Amino acid sequence: MTVKIIVGAQWGDEGKGKITDILAENMDLVVRYQGGNNAGHTVVVGEETFKLHLIPSGILNKNCCCVIANGVVIDPEVLFSEIEALQKRGIAVSPQNFKISSIAHIILPFHKILDGSQEARRHEEKIGTTGRGIGPAYTDKVSRNGVRVMDLLSREKLAKKILNHHWENQIPGQNLDIEGVIDQYHAFGLKMLPYVTDTSLFINTAMDEKRNIILEGAQGTMLDVDHGTYPFVTSSSPISGGACIGAGVGPHKIDGVLGVTKAYVTRVGEGPFPTELTDAQGDHLRERGAEFGTTTGRSRRCGWLDIVALNYAIRVNGITEICLTKLDVLDGLDSIKVCTGYRVNGEIITAFPLDLDVFSNADPIYDTLPGWKEDISQLTDFNKLPANAIAYIHYIAEKTGVEINLISVGSRRNQTIHLLTLA
Ligand code: GDP
Ligand code: IMO
Ligand code: MG
Repeated sequence: MTVKIIVGAQWGDEGKGKITDILAENMDLVVRYQGGNNAGHTVVVGEETFKLHLIPSGILNKNCCCVIANGVVIDPEVLFSEIEALQKRGIAVSPQNFKISSIAHIILPFHKILDGSQEARRHEEKIGTTGRGIGPAYTDKVSRNGVRVMDLLSREKLAKKILNHHWENQIPGQNLDIEGVIDQYHAFGLKMLPYVTDTSLFINTAMDEKRNIILEGAQGTMLDVDHGTYPFVTSSSPISGGACIGAGVGPHKIDGVLGVTKAYVTRVGEGPFPTELTDAQGDHLRERGAEFGTTTGRSRRCGWLDIVALNYAIRVNGITEICLTKLDVLDGLDSIKVCTGYRVNGEIITAFPLDLDVFSNADPIYDTLPGWKEDISQLTDFNKLPANAIAYIHYIAEKTGVEINLISVGSRRNQTIHLLTLA
Protein backbone atom coordinates (compact mmCIF):
# COMPACT_ATOMS: atom_id res chain seq x y z
CA MET A 1 0.00 0.00 0.00
CA THR A 2 1.14 3.51 -0.67
CA VAL A 3 -0.55 6.85 -0.04
CA LYS A 4 1.14 9.74 -1.77
CA ILE A 5 0.29 13.38 -2.18
CA ILE A 6 1.04 15.09 -5.51
CA VAL A 7 1.61 18.83 -5.21
CA GLY A 8 2.61 21.56 -7.60
CA ALA A 9 5.89 23.07 -6.40
CA GLN A 10 5.46 26.32 -8.37
CA TRP A 11 2.56 28.53 -9.50
CA GLY A 12 0.50 25.72 -11.00
CA ASP A 13 0.57 24.04 -14.42
CA GLU A 14 3.67 22.04 -13.53
CA GLY A 15 2.28 18.99 -15.33
CA LYS A 16 0.55 17.45 -12.30
CA GLY A 17 -2.16 16.01 -14.55
CA LYS A 18 0.30 14.08 -16.70
CA ILE A 19 2.18 12.76 -13.66
CA THR A 20 -1.03 11.73 -11.86
CA ASP A 21 -2.28 9.97 -15.01
CA ILE A 22 0.95 7.98 -15.33
CA LEU A 23 1.07 6.97 -11.67
CA ALA A 24 -2.67 6.22 -11.63
CA GLU A 25 -1.97 3.07 -13.65
CA ASN A 26 -0.98 1.45 -10.36
CA MET A 27 -3.46 3.28 -8.17
CA ASP A 28 -6.81 2.21 -6.74
CA LEU A 29 -7.88 5.75 -5.88
CA VAL A 30 -7.06 9.26 -7.08
CA VAL A 31 -8.53 11.95 -4.83
CA ARG A 32 -8.80 15.68 -5.61
CA TYR A 33 -8.58 17.54 -2.29
CA GLN A 34 -8.94 21.27 -3.05
CA GLY A 35 -9.57 23.92 -5.67
CA GLY A 36 -12.25 23.79 -8.31
CA ASN A 37 -12.50 24.30 -12.03
CA ASN A 38 -9.86 27.01 -11.83
CA ALA A 39 -7.59 24.02 -12.42
CA GLY A 40 -6.83 22.80 -15.91
CA HIS A 41 -4.95 19.56 -16.38
CA THR A 42 -4.03 18.41 -19.87
CA VAL A 43 -3.53 14.68 -20.19
CA VAL A 44 -2.49 13.10 -23.48
CA VAL A 45 -3.30 9.44 -24.09
CA GLY A 46 -2.24 8.11 -27.47
CA GLU A 47 -3.64 10.50 -30.07
CA GLU A 48 -6.23 11.91 -27.69
CA THR A 49 -5.93 15.02 -25.54
CA PHE A 50 -8.12 15.43 -22.47
CA LYS A 51 -8.54 18.68 -20.60
CA LEU A 52 -9.71 18.00 -17.07
CA HIS A 53 -10.85 20.67 -14.63
CA LEU A 54 -12.72 18.98 -11.82
CA ILE A 55 -12.54 15.25 -12.40
CA PRO A 56 -9.30 13.80 -10.99
CA SER A 57 -6.58 12.97 -13.50
CA GLY A 58 -6.86 9.23 -12.73
CA ILE A 59 -10.13 8.91 -14.66
CA LEU A 60 -8.42 7.76 -17.87
CA ASN A 61 -7.18 4.61 -16.11
CA LYS A 62 -9.89 1.95 -16.16
CA ASN A 63 -9.16 0.41 -12.78
CA CYS A 64 -8.79 3.62 -10.86
CA CYS A 65 -11.61 5.12 -8.81
CA CYS A 66 -11.69 8.93 -8.69
CA VAL A 67 -12.92 10.99 -5.76
CA ILE A 68 -13.82 14.66 -5.45
CA ALA A 69 -13.27 15.15 -1.73
CA ASN A 70 -14.67 17.66 0.74
CA GLY A 71 -12.01 20.35 0.17
CA VAL A 72 -13.03 20.95 -3.46
CA VAL A 73 -15.55 23.60 -4.57
CA ILE A 74 -17.85 22.20 -7.24
CA ASP A 75 -19.55 24.00 -10.09
CA PRO A 76 -22.22 21.40 -10.94
CA GLU A 77 -22.71 22.70 -14.47
CA VAL A 78 -19.00 22.26 -15.23
CA LEU A 79 -19.00 18.89 -13.47
CA PHE A 80 -21.76 17.46 -15.63
CA SER A 81 -20.41 18.89 -18.86
CA GLU A 82 -17.06 17.29 -18.02
CA ILE A 83 -18.64 13.94 -17.14
CA GLU A 84 -20.72 13.95 -20.31
CA ALA A 85 -17.79 14.98 -22.52
CA LEU A 86 -15.72 12.11 -21.12
CA GLN A 87 -18.55 9.61 -21.53
CA LYS A 88 -19.02 10.70 -25.14
CA ARG A 89 -15.38 9.84 -25.74
CA GLY A 90 -15.86 6.37 -24.29
CA ILE A 91 -14.42 7.05 -20.84
CA ALA A 92 -16.43 5.39 -18.09
CA VAL A 93 -17.63 7.77 -15.38
CA SER A 94 -20.14 6.00 -13.17
CA PRO A 95 -20.97 5.70 -9.47
CA GLN A 96 -18.61 2.70 -9.45
CA ASN A 97 -15.51 4.68 -10.39
CA PHE A 98 -16.40 8.23 -9.37
CA LYS A 99 -17.42 9.61 -5.97
CA ILE A 100 -18.35 13.08 -4.75
CA SER A 101 -18.17 14.22 -1.14
CA SER A 102 -21.51 15.10 0.41
CA ILE A 103 -19.85 18.00 2.25
CA ALA A 104 -17.96 19.62 -0.62
CA HIS A 105 -19.07 23.21 -1.23
CA ILE A 106 -20.93 24.41 -4.28
CA ILE A 107 -20.09 27.28 -6.61
CA LEU A 108 -23.31 29.15 -7.38
CA PRO A 109 -23.79 31.44 -10.40
CA PHE A 110 -23.72 34.37 -7.95
CA HIS A 111 -20.16 33.48 -6.90
CA LYS A 112 -19.06 33.81 -10.52
CA ILE A 113 -20.67 37.23 -10.84
CA LEU A 114 -19.00 38.32 -7.58
CA ASP A 115 -15.60 37.02 -8.74
CA GLY A 116 -15.85 39.30 -11.78
CA SER A 117 -17.10 42.36 -9.91
CA GLN A 118 -14.49 42.01 -7.15
CA GLU A 119 -11.73 41.81 -9.75
CA ALA A 120 -13.11 44.88 -11.54
CA ARG A 121 -13.03 46.81 -8.25
CA ARG A 122 -9.40 45.87 -7.59
CA HIS A 123 -8.19 48.06 -10.51
CA GLU A 124 -4.38 47.88 -10.59
CA GLU A 125 -4.36 45.40 -7.69
CA LYS A 126 -6.06 42.74 -9.79
CA ILE A 127 -5.24 39.11 -8.94
CA GLY A 128 -6.03 37.87 -12.43
CA THR A 129 -8.38 35.16 -11.15
CA THR A 130 -9.78 32.55 -13.49
CA GLY A 131 -13.24 34.10 -13.00
CA ARG A 132 -14.74 30.76 -11.99
CA GLY A 133 -16.18 31.96 -8.65
CA ILE A 134 -13.53 30.16 -6.60
CA GLY A 135 -12.69 32.98 -4.15
CA PRO A 136 -16.33 33.90 -3.35
CA ALA A 137 -17.31 30.22 -2.90
CA TYR A 138 -14.48 29.62 -0.42
CA THR A 139 -15.33 32.92 1.30
CA ASP A 140 -18.87 31.65 1.89
CA LYS A 141 -17.51 28.34 3.14
CA VAL A 142 -15.26 29.99 5.73
CA SER A 143 -17.90 32.52 6.77
CA ARG A 144 -20.31 29.59 7.24
CA ASN A 145 -22.76 30.72 4.59
CA GLY A 146 -21.86 28.09 2.02
CA VAL A 147 -24.08 25.62 0.22
CA ARG A 148 -22.82 22.03 0.35
CA VAL A 149 -23.55 19.09 -1.93
CA MET A 150 -25.98 17.58 0.60
CA ASP A 151 -27.95 20.85 0.74
CA LEU A 152 -28.80 20.52 -2.95
CA LEU A 153 -30.75 17.36 -2.25
CA SER A 154 -33.60 19.10 -0.44
CA ARG A 155 -35.27 21.95 -2.32
CA GLU A 156 -36.52 23.37 0.95
CA LYS A 157 -33.10 23.41 2.63
CA LEU A 158 -31.46 24.83 -0.48
CA ALA A 159 -34.09 27.57 -0.84
CA LYS A 160 -33.62 28.59 2.80
CA LYS A 161 -29.85 28.79 2.44
CA ILE A 162 -29.93 30.75 -0.80
CA LEU A 163 -32.70 33.11 0.27
CA ASN A 164 -31.03 33.81 3.65
CA HIS A 165 -27.91 34.89 1.80
CA HIS A 166 -29.71 37.95 0.39
CA TRP A 167 -27.79 37.85 -2.88
CA GLU A 168 -29.86 40.79 -4.18
CA ASN A 169 -28.04 43.02 -1.63
CA GLN A 170 -24.61 41.66 -2.48
CA ILE A 171 -25.02 41.93 -6.22
CA PRO A 172 -27.24 44.98 -6.56
CA GLY A 173 -28.59 46.25 -9.85
CA GLN A 174 -28.84 42.81 -11.43
CA ASN A 175 -32.03 41.01 -12.11
CA LEU A 176 -31.14 37.77 -10.35
CA ASP A 177 -33.37 34.79 -11.03
CA ILE A 178 -33.00 33.37 -7.52
CA GLU A 179 -35.96 30.96 -7.72
CA GLY A 180 -34.67 29.69 -11.07
CA VAL A 181 -31.24 29.01 -9.53
CA ILE A 182 -32.84 27.13 -6.62
CA ASP A 183 -34.74 24.88 -9.07
CA GLN A 184 -31.70 24.35 -11.27
CA TYR A 185 -29.32 23.53 -8.39
CA HIS A 186 -31.80 21.21 -6.72
CA ALA A 187 -32.01 19.35 -10.03
CA PHE A 188 -28.19 19.21 -10.15
CA GLY A 189 -28.24 17.74 -6.63
CA LEU A 190 -30.60 14.96 -7.66
CA LYS A 191 -28.40 14.23 -10.67
CA MET A 192 -25.32 14.10 -8.41
CA LEU A 193 -26.96 11.83 -5.84
CA PRO A 194 -25.73 8.46 -7.23
CA TYR A 195 -22.13 9.65 -6.87
CA VAL A 196 -22.49 11.30 -3.46
CA THR A 197 -20.89 9.63 -0.47
CA ASP A 198 -18.94 10.16 2.74
CA THR A 199 -15.61 10.33 0.91
CA SER A 200 -13.46 10.50 4.07
CA LEU A 201 -14.96 7.17 5.15
CA PHE A 202 -14.53 5.77 1.63
CA ILE A 203 -10.86 6.83 1.44
CA ASN A 204 -10.03 5.64 4.96
CA THR A 205 -11.68 2.29 4.29
CA ALA A 206 -9.52 1.97 1.16
CA MET A 207 -6.49 2.76 3.34
CA ASP A 208 -7.50 0.01 5.79
CA GLU A 209 -7.70 -2.33 2.81
CA LYS A 210 -4.11 -1.37 1.92
CA ARG A 211 -5.03 0.23 -1.41
CA ASN A 212 -2.74 2.47 -3.44
CA ILE A 213 -3.88 6.08 -3.27
CA ILE A 214 -2.90 9.43 -4.73
CA LEU A 215 -4.16 12.64 -3.18
CA GLU A 216 -3.99 15.07 -6.09
CA GLY A 217 -3.51 18.79 -5.50
CA ALA A 218 -4.54 21.43 -7.98
CA GLN A 219 -2.78 24.80 -8.41
CA GLY A 220 0.64 25.03 -6.72
CA THR A 221 2.53 25.96 -3.57
CA MET A 222 3.03 29.60 -4.56
CA LEU A 223 -0.75 29.94 -5.01
CA ASP A 224 -1.48 28.57 -1.52
CA VAL A 225 -3.68 30.95 0.47
CA ASP A 226 -1.32 30.78 3.50
CA HIS A 227 2.10 30.03 2.09
CA GLY A 228 1.86 31.51 -1.41
CA THR A 229 2.50 35.02 -2.69
CA TYR A 230 -0.54 36.47 -0.93
CA PRO A 231 -2.75 38.17 -2.08
CA PHE A 232 -1.83 36.88 -5.55
CA VAL A 233 -2.96 33.38 -4.65
CA THR A 234 -5.98 31.15 -4.90
CA SER A 235 -8.40 30.69 -2.00
CA SER A 236 -7.52 27.16 -0.92
CA SER A 237 -4.54 25.16 0.37
CA PRO A 238 -2.86 23.28 -2.48
CA ILE A 239 0.09 22.30 -0.24
CA SER A 240 0.38 18.82 1.25
CA GLY A 241 -1.17 19.88 4.57
CA GLY A 242 -4.31 20.77 2.62
CA ALA A 243 -4.61 17.15 1.53
CA CYS A 244 -5.36 15.91 5.06
CA ILE A 245 -8.04 18.55 5.59
CA GLY A 246 -9.42 18.38 2.07
CA ALA A 247 -9.73 14.59 2.03
CA GLY A 248 -10.39 13.86 5.70
CA VAL A 249 -7.34 11.68 6.32
CA GLY A 250 -4.78 11.65 9.12
CA PRO A 251 -1.21 12.83 8.45
CA HIS A 252 0.28 9.55 9.72
CA LYS A 253 -1.40 7.76 6.78
CA ILE A 254 0.72 9.63 4.21
CA ASP A 255 3.79 7.83 2.88
CA GLY A 256 5.31 10.58 0.79
CA VAL A 257 4.88 13.91 -0.97
CA LEU A 258 5.68 14.14 -4.63
CA GLY A 259 6.53 17.66 -5.77
CA VAL A 260 6.05 18.39 -9.44
CA THR A 261 8.24 21.14 -10.85
CA LYS A 262 8.94 22.27 -14.36
CA ALA A 263 12.57 22.58 -15.45
CA TYR A 264 11.76 26.32 -15.65
CA VAL A 265 8.91 28.36 -14.13
CA THR A 266 5.57 29.68 -15.37
CA ARG A 267 2.88 31.80 -13.79
CA VAL A 268 -0.61 32.79 -14.95
CA GLY A 269 -2.27 35.90 -13.58
CA GLU A 270 -0.77 38.78 -11.65
CA GLY A 271 1.86 38.93 -8.91
CA PRO A 272 5.63 39.08 -8.51
CA PHE A 273 7.86 36.59 -10.35
CA PRO A 274 11.58 37.42 -9.92
CA THR A 275 12.95 35.10 -12.62
CA GLU A 276 10.38 36.11 -15.23
CA LEU A 277 11.77 36.60 -18.74
CA THR A 278 9.93 39.37 -20.53
CA ASP A 279 12.22 39.18 -23.56
CA ALA A 280 12.66 36.88 -26.56
CA GLN A 281 14.00 34.16 -24.27
CA GLY A 282 10.65 34.13 -22.42
CA ASP A 283 8.77 34.04 -25.73
CA HIS A 284 10.94 31.10 -26.77
CA LEU A 285 10.02 29.10 -23.64
CA ARG A 286 6.31 29.98 -24.10
CA GLU A 287 6.32 28.80 -27.72
CA ARG A 288 8.35 25.64 -27.14
CA GLY A 289 6.47 24.74 -23.98
CA ALA A 290 3.05 25.71 -25.45
CA GLU A 291 2.54 27.79 -22.33
CA PHE A 292 -1.04 28.89 -22.78
CA GLY A 293 -3.55 28.27 -19.98
CA THR A 294 -5.68 25.11 -20.11
CA THR A 295 -8.57 26.88 -18.37
CA THR A 296 -8.55 30.46 -19.65
CA GLY A 297 -6.22 30.27 -22.66
CA ARG A 298 -4.13 33.11 -21.23
CA SER A 299 -0.41 33.29 -22.06
CA ARG A 300 1.66 31.96 -19.20
CA ARG A 301 4.51 34.14 -18.00
CA CYS A 302 7.79 32.20 -18.29
CA GLY A 303 11.12 32.38 -16.48
CA TRP A 304 14.15 30.47 -15.23
CA LEU A 305 14.00 27.85 -12.49
CA ASP A 306 14.07 29.44 -9.04
CA ILE A 307 15.83 27.25 -6.45
CA VAL A 308 14.94 29.64 -3.60
CA ALA A 309 11.23 29.18 -4.33
CA LEU A 310 11.66 25.45 -4.99
CA ASN A 311 13.41 24.90 -1.66
CA TYR A 312 10.61 26.84 0.03
CA ALA A 313 8.04 24.55 -1.65
CA ILE A 314 10.05 21.52 -0.50
CA ARG A 315 9.96 22.87 3.06
CA VAL A 316 6.28 23.83 3.38
CA ASN A 317 5.11 20.62 1.70
CA GLY A 318 7.69 18.23 3.10
CA ILE A 319 8.40 17.09 -0.47
CA THR A 320 10.11 13.69 -0.39
CA GLU A 321 10.64 13.23 -4.13
CA ILE A 322 10.65 15.46 -7.19
CA CYS A 323 9.10 14.95 -10.62
CA LEU A 324 10.91 17.21 -13.06
CA THR A 325 8.73 18.04 -16.06
CA LYS A 326 9.15 19.73 -19.43
CA LEU A 327 12.90 19.20 -19.53
CA ASP A 328 12.57 18.87 -23.32
CA VAL A 329 11.49 22.51 -23.54
CA LEU A 330 15.07 23.50 -22.70
CA ASP A 331 16.46 21.60 -25.74
CA GLY A 332 18.55 23.75 -28.05
CA LEU A 333 19.56 26.45 -25.58
CA ASP A 334 23.21 27.52 -25.41
CA SER A 335 22.95 28.02 -21.68
CA ILE A 336 20.41 27.71 -18.88
CA LYS A 337 20.14 29.98 -15.88
CA VAL A 338 19.04 28.95 -12.41
CA CYS A 339 18.29 31.39 -9.61
CA THR A 340 20.11 30.52 -6.38
CA GLY A 341 19.45 33.66 -4.33
CA TYR A 342 17.99 37.15 -4.42
CA ARG A 343 19.67 40.50 -4.05
CA VAL A 344 17.35 42.85 -2.16
CA ASN A 345 18.50 46.38 -1.32
CA GLY A 346 22.13 45.34 -1.55
CA GLU A 347 21.66 42.28 0.66
CA ILE A 348 21.78 38.68 -0.53
CA ILE A 349 19.06 36.33 0.69
CA THR A 350 18.66 32.63 0.04
CA ALA A 351 15.58 31.95 2.21
CA PHE A 352 12.24 32.68 0.56
CA PRO A 353 11.02 36.10 1.83
CA LEU A 354 7.51 36.19 3.26
CA ASP A 355 7.18 39.96 2.75
CA LEU A 356 5.71 40.46 -0.73
CA ASP A 357 7.40 43.86 -1.03
CA VAL A 358 10.76 42.16 -0.54
CA PHE A 359 9.85 39.40 -3.01
CA SER A 360 8.66 42.00 -5.54
CA ASN A 361 12.05 43.72 -5.35
CA ALA A 362 14.10 40.55 -5.44
CA ASP A 363 16.80 40.67 -8.06
CA PRO A 364 17.71 37.08 -8.95
CA ILE A 365 21.28 35.86 -8.64
CA TYR A 366 21.94 33.23 -11.29
CA ASP A 367 24.18 30.26 -11.86
CA THR A 368 24.64 29.61 -15.57
CA LEU A 369 24.80 26.03 -16.78
CA PRO A 370 25.64 24.82 -20.29
CA GLY A 371 22.66 23.76 -22.42
CA TRP A 372 22.34 20.89 -24.91
CA LYS A 373 21.43 20.83 -28.57
CA GLU A 374 19.92 17.35 -28.82
CA ASP A 375 16.20 16.57 -28.98
CA ILE A 376 15.56 14.61 -25.78
CA SER A 377 11.81 14.19 -26.24
CA GLN A 378 12.02 10.54 -27.32
CA LEU A 379 14.46 9.35 -24.67
CA THR A 380 13.31 6.99 -21.96
CA ASP A 381 16.72 5.99 -20.62
CA PHE A 382 18.34 8.42 -18.22
CA ASN A 383 21.83 7.43 -19.31
CA LYS A 384 21.10 8.37 -22.95
CA LEU A 385 20.39 11.99 -22.01
CA PRO A 386 23.02 14.52 -23.15
CA ALA A 387 25.72 15.03 -20.51
CA ASN A 388 24.62 18.62 -19.91
CA ALA A 389 21.01 17.55 -19.31
CA ILE A 390 22.25 14.99 -16.78
CA ALA A 391 24.39 17.69 -15.19
CA TYR A 392 21.32 19.99 -14.96
CA ILE A 393 19.30 17.24 -13.23
CA HIS A 394 22.14 16.48 -10.81
CA TYR A 395 22.50 20.19 -10.12
CA ILE A 396 18.82 20.49 -9.11
CA ALA A 397 19.01 17.37 -6.94
CA GLU A 398 22.12 18.72 -5.24
CA LYS A 399 20.72 22.24 -4.66
CA THR A 400 17.49 20.87 -3.21
CA GLY A 401 18.75 17.77 -1.43
CA VAL A 402 15.71 15.88 -2.77
CA GLU A 403 15.78 12.88 -5.07
CA ILE A 404 14.41 13.34 -8.59
CA ASN A 405 12.44 10.17 -9.28
CA LEU A 406 10.73 10.97 -12.54
CA ILE A 407 11.66 13.13 -15.51
CA SER A 408 9.13 14.15 -18.13
CA VAL A 409 10.30 14.99 -21.65
CA GLY A 410 6.96 15.41 -23.43
CA SER A 411 3.23 15.41 -22.84
CA ARG A 412 2.68 11.74 -23.73
CA ARG A 413 2.72 8.89 -21.27
CA ASN A 414 5.76 7.25 -22.86
CA GLN A 415 7.75 10.50 -22.85
CA THR A 416 8.81 9.79 -19.30
CA ILE A 417 12.03 8.67 -17.66
CA HIS A 418 11.44 6.70 -14.47
CA LEU A 419 14.27 6.73 -11.98
CA LEU A 420 14.23 5.23 -8.58
CA THR A 421 17.55 6.68 -7.67
CA LEU A 422 19.76 8.86 -9.78
CA ALA A 423 22.64 7.03 -11.45
P1 GDP B 1 -1.19 20.88 -14.48
O1 GDP B 1 -2.20 21.95 -14.27
O2 GDP B 1 -0.10 20.89 -13.46
O3 GDP B 1 -1.78 19.52 -14.66
O4 GDP B 1 -0.45 21.24 -15.85
P2 GDP B 1 -1.17 21.66 -17.24
O5 GDP B 1 -1.77 20.46 -17.84
O6 GDP B 1 -2.03 22.85 -17.04
O7 GDP B 1 0.07 22.19 -18.06
C1 GDP B 1 1.13 21.36 -18.42
C2 GDP B 1 1.18 21.29 -19.96
O8 GDP B 1 2.43 20.75 -20.37
C3 GDP B 1 0.14 20.37 -20.57
O9 GDP B 1 -0.24 20.89 -21.81
C4 GDP B 1 0.86 19.04 -20.73
O10 GDP B 1 0.34 18.26 -21.80
C5 GDP B 1 2.25 19.52 -21.07
N1 GDP B 1 3.32 18.67 -20.56
C6 GDP B 1 3.37 17.92 -19.42
N2 GDP B 1 4.59 17.38 -19.27
C7 GDP B 1 5.32 17.80 -20.33
C8 GDP B 1 6.68 17.60 -20.72
O11 GDP B 1 7.47 16.95 -20.06
N3 GDP B 1 7.09 18.23 -21.88
C9 GDP B 1 6.26 18.98 -22.64
N4 GDP B 1 6.75 19.55 -23.72
N5 GDP B 1 4.97 19.17 -22.30
C10 GDP B 1 4.52 18.61 -21.16
P1 IMO C 1 -3.71 24.13 -12.17
O1 IMO C 1 -4.37 23.11 -11.28
C1 IMO C 1 -2.20 28.16 -12.77
C2 IMO C 1 -4.23 31.37 -10.57
C3 IMO C 1 -5.00 32.39 -11.36
C4 IMO C 1 -4.84 33.61 -10.46
C5 IMO C 1 -4.89 33.01 -9.07
C6 IMO C 1 -6.26 33.10 -8.41
O2 IMO C 1 -4.04 23.97 -13.61
O3 IMO C 1 -2.25 24.17 -11.88
P2 IMO C 1 -8.57 31.82 -8.75
O4 IMO C 1 -9.45 31.71 -9.94
O5 IMO C 1 -8.06 30.53 -8.21
O6 IMO C 1 -9.16 32.68 -7.67
O7 IMO C 1 -7.30 32.65 -9.28
O8 IMO C 1 -4.53 31.65 -9.21
N1 IMO C 1 -4.61 29.96 -10.81
C7 IMO C 1 -3.86 29.09 -11.50
N2 IMO C 1 -2.71 29.26 -12.18
N3 IMO C 1 -2.74 26.94 -12.69
C8 IMO C 1 -3.88 26.74 -11.98
O9 IMO C 1 -4.40 25.52 -11.75
C9 IMO C 1 -4.52 27.85 -11.39
N4 IMO C 1 -5.64 28.02 -10.66
C10 IMO C 1 -5.68 29.30 -10.31
O10 IMO C 1 -4.43 32.58 -12.64
O11 IMO C 1 -3.56 34.15 -10.62
MG1 MG D 1 -3.03 23.57 -15.29
